[in-house]
Amino acid sequence: MANHVVLNTGAKMPIIGLGTWKSTSIGLKDAVKAAIDIGYRLIDTAYLYKTEIDIGEAIAEKIKEGVVKREDLFIVSKLWSTFHEKSAVKKACMLTLTDLKLDYLDLYLIHWPMGFKTNDLDDSGFFVPDDTNFLETWEGMEELVDAGLVKAIGVSNFNHKQLDLMLNKPDLKYKPAVNQVECHPYLTQEKLIKYCHSNGIAVTAYSPLGSPGRLWATPEDPSLLEDPRIKAIAEKYHKTSAQVLIHFHIQRNIIAIPKSENPSRIAENFKVFDFELSKEEMDTIMNFNRNWRYCPLQWSLKHKDYPFNEEY
Ligand code: A2P
Repeated sequence: MANHVVLNTGAKMPIIGLGTWKSTSIGLKDAVKAAIDIGYRLIDTAYLYKTEIDIGEAIAEKIKEGVVKREDLFIVSKLWSTFHEKSAVKKACMLTLTDLKLDYLDLYLIHWPMGFKTNDLDDSGFFVPDDTNFLETWEGMEELVDAGLVKAIGVSNFNHKQLDLMLNKPDLKYKPAVNQVECHPYLTQEKLIKYCHSNGIAVTAYSPLGSPGRLWATPEDPSLLEDPRIKAIAEKYHKTSAQVLIHFHIQRNIIAIPKSENPSRIAENFKVFDFELSKEEMDTIMNFNRNWRYCPLQWSLKHKDYPFNEEY
């Protein structure tokens, strides 16, 4: 079972990584150090998460201890939506690199396709759109590759029409290497993943456990970790529901980035390579799809580039 996905740049991206969205400054640094000790080499972060300083300190300590070298790690960050002007992209990347104490990123993603004027929401609770177009933002991203600041560039939360626009851009220099999207058994993303894979774009699944820590959760929301059908499959393999949910992506050749700040759960989430689901079990889990989004990005519903009104 492959422990990595080969990107269209030729780079090998680890198939399991540590997610850090919603991490707190109390537990994050130790979590990243524990993850590296356990064997994680992919760490996913973003300017928006305010996690980069702690992650940078953890990485620096592990490199200093000789546990890993920089080139063993695969560090992913994301350009936030207030930096979508082409001229702002490099500044944003430099802020991220400084906080992470790194001189390059392995992968830098446009976090959301929408550009915003500020981080303040308007009186109705929506982000205020700016005048940018993500195709211009992409030109700024391409310049980062040429400047040696990032090894690969990609996107996050893009639908297939937005990717199509990008792939058909007449002066496109670099294709997106990755589209990072929400993906799990309640949102299997079959059409989008087929589109991405057939165009040489790797897919990363965020919220693979159903993001139980999200702030906007309601008691009526379905819970992946509590789903008795997932529990039954897990019991058969003497695994936990989380391990089945994470493993599900490996068999689809999708990178998964479960978030945890708890060292024992971080270890649990990495022990996912020693079992295999049958084709029938994979098909069964695929049928749990209900097009359910834990992260509908509701603060940008009215934006011209809001991605989730398309079927895929
Ligand atoms: P914690 O950080 O306390 O471990 P997602 O990656 O889908 O966003 O889910 C992350 C959430 O799931 C976090 O609240 C995290 O809490 C929790 N979590 C992570 N790993 C496990 C696990 N193995 N079992 C149960 N909950 C987990």
